[in-house]
Amino acid sequence: MCGIIGYTGPKKTLEVLISGLKNLEYRGYDSAGISIIGDNNDIFSFKTKGRIAVLEERLKKMGEISHNRAGIGHTRWATHGIPNEINAHPHKDCTGNIWVVHNGIIENYRILRKRLEAEGHKFISETDTEIISHLIEKYYKNPAVGGLEEAVKLALGEVIGAYGIAVISSFEPDKIVAARFSSPLIIGIGDNEAFVASDVSAVVNHTRKVIYLDDGEVAVILPDKYQIFDLNNNSEKREKQIKEISWEIKEAQKGGFSHFLFKEIYEEPEAITNAIRGRINLEDGTAKLGGLELSEKRFAEIERLVIIACGTAHYAAMVGEYMMEEYAGLPTEVEMGSEFRYRKPVLDKKTAVLAISQSGETADTLMAVREAKRKGAFVFGLVNTVGSTIARECGVGVYNHAGLEVAVPASKSFISQLSILALLTVFLGRQRQMSNTMGTRILKELANLPKLAEQILKQDELIRDLAKKYGAYKNFLYLGRKYNYPIALEGALKLKELAYCIHAEGYPAGEMKHGPIAMIDEDFPSVVIATSDSVYDKMVNAIQEIKARNGKVIAIATEGNEDIKNFTDDVIYIPKTLEMLTPILATIPLHFFACHIGVLNRCDIDKPRNLAKSVVVE
Ligand code: AGP
Ligand code: GLU
Repeated sequence: MCGIIGYTGPKKTLEVLISGLKNLEYRGYDSAGISIIGDNNDIFSFKTKGRIAVLEERLKKMGEISHNRAGIGHTRWATHGIPNEINAHPHKDCTGNIWVVHNGIIENYRILRKRLEAEGHKFISETDTEIISHLIEKYYKNPAVGGLEEAVKLALGEVIGAYGIAVISSFEPDKIVAARFSSPLIIGIGDNEAFVASDVSAVVNHTRKVIYLDDGEVAVILPDKYQIFDLNNNSEKREKQIKEISWEIKEAQKGGFSHFLFKEIYEEPEAITNAIRGRINLEDGTAKLGGLELSEKRFAEIERLVIIACGTAHYAAMVGEYMMEEYAGLPTEVEMGSEFRYRKPVLDKKTAVLAISQSGETADTLMAVREAKRKGAFVFGLVNTVGSTIARECGVGVYNHAGLEVAVPASKSFISQLSILALLTVFLGRQRQMSNTMGTRILKELANLPKLAEQILKQDELIRDLAKKYGAYKNFLYLGRKYNYPIALEGALKLKELAYCIHAEGYPAGEMKHGPIAMIDEDFPSVVIATSDSVYDKMVNAIQEIKARNGKVIAIATEGNEDIKNFTDDVIYIPKTLEMLTPILATIPLHFFACHIGVLNRCDIDKPRNLAKSVVVE
């Protein structure tokens, strides 16, 4: 996720911007930049790839800058255009009088760019963001007849997608116009000074009075006053409550959560939204995956899919196997990166290899990608980090747009991977036997999933109580079947990672009676994913086998199934959805459960011992 900071007031604008960007570094970024208006209404702007320290160093070498009116700053988490100086924000219009920073994705930027170029606008970056500055330029009229805010409103009327933006113009040197749709923005209210930022951590050193913008709101900010308009209701003025923030910086960066991991689990519904945004084509009942469109014919020709990944991403791949075979009719197999390259994999031009990696830097997965390419397979990626090595070496692929995952254990990136695998299943299925009706049905249910996931977040306290009840046990067995077998593996891995003093084993439920059942007794509880689906009756058998040996059972079940309470010890309910999408919902309570048990056992759940966020060694 990127970071936005804007300032207008008597302080040194550059200092406020740089310190604000430093407090936003935790959000993750690949480049940074600033733009500040001067007394002669000219604009100073400087951007760089890499860290804010590099930006600061290079600015220092340029000596004191006189520009000290309104200014904006940005840390970029690239989605469109590789991380480099040209693609870094802020972005300007043709005249250099209007500068914009943006957080989010403009879905219709290609068509808007074509139209603006046809009208004579000259673009210099590869980003989606730059179209905003040229649209504002197109609509800008002098302050007497609307000025910057009117131009921003008209420009946003043409934009489809997610945005949090801050805009300055040399024509109105003390003004910042901000607008939000889906990407968070706050306004900071100081004493004869004002701020705009992605979150309070950027302003809490200056003011504790903040206003949280809501979707569709436009804010006009001056040092001594602000106004907020509703873009959707012909710009009627909005009265907003000023909140008093009590957080210190660290808490602010965690959004008030005790740990980044809790914050990122709470972001899991949004991860689904960000994964599917602009990628659902209900008219044709298929998925729009921009990164794959140029290879659409190549995808239609493949006869086999091999999915390569490690750790949690490997479990996502396993769910993808079930999806692809059941709904795309495509023979699919899953390989661990660390195993794949040392086997003699049989690959050919009819084989596609998908590499799944949150970091895009995992050595085992990267080496497997190189081996697959060497064998002539068609390789593509599902990666969260834009411009990462695996993304670049695959060349073709889909980005998660899950934003930065600060906590070492994967959470929202896994939910995002599953969501995109569902899209990919529809994309490939519709090239094969899947009907428009089936494609539309899956996509509609996928679009509805964030709302269902939000409902599960409300069970956080119930799950915390279960963690207290079971937190003292030293061994757990996680069981699942079919789509939820990989989720049992993920649930067990999370508990191992977050409460490393506890051992947890994930197992296919059908295999329990072939061995692990020997471990079951009253001191060895089981977490069983028993959702109402095609294998529910078999899961009930597994539960009965456990109960017959005095084993305790925590069931993940589908809302409405009251009967399961009669033969289990505790039940966590999740909403009903398609069987192939159930793993996405079933994961959320397991992530919460592992978090709470980890905290109860005083483990560092954001940075578990021995773990790295990206395992770049073999
Ligand atoms: C996830 O909780 C683990 N930390 C780990 O298994 C991770 O999923 C694995 O290392 C793969 O990482 P990647 O997705 O960045 O390739
Ligand atoms: N989509 C924009 C870009 O790629 C903004 C990304 C961000 O949120 O940092 O530049």
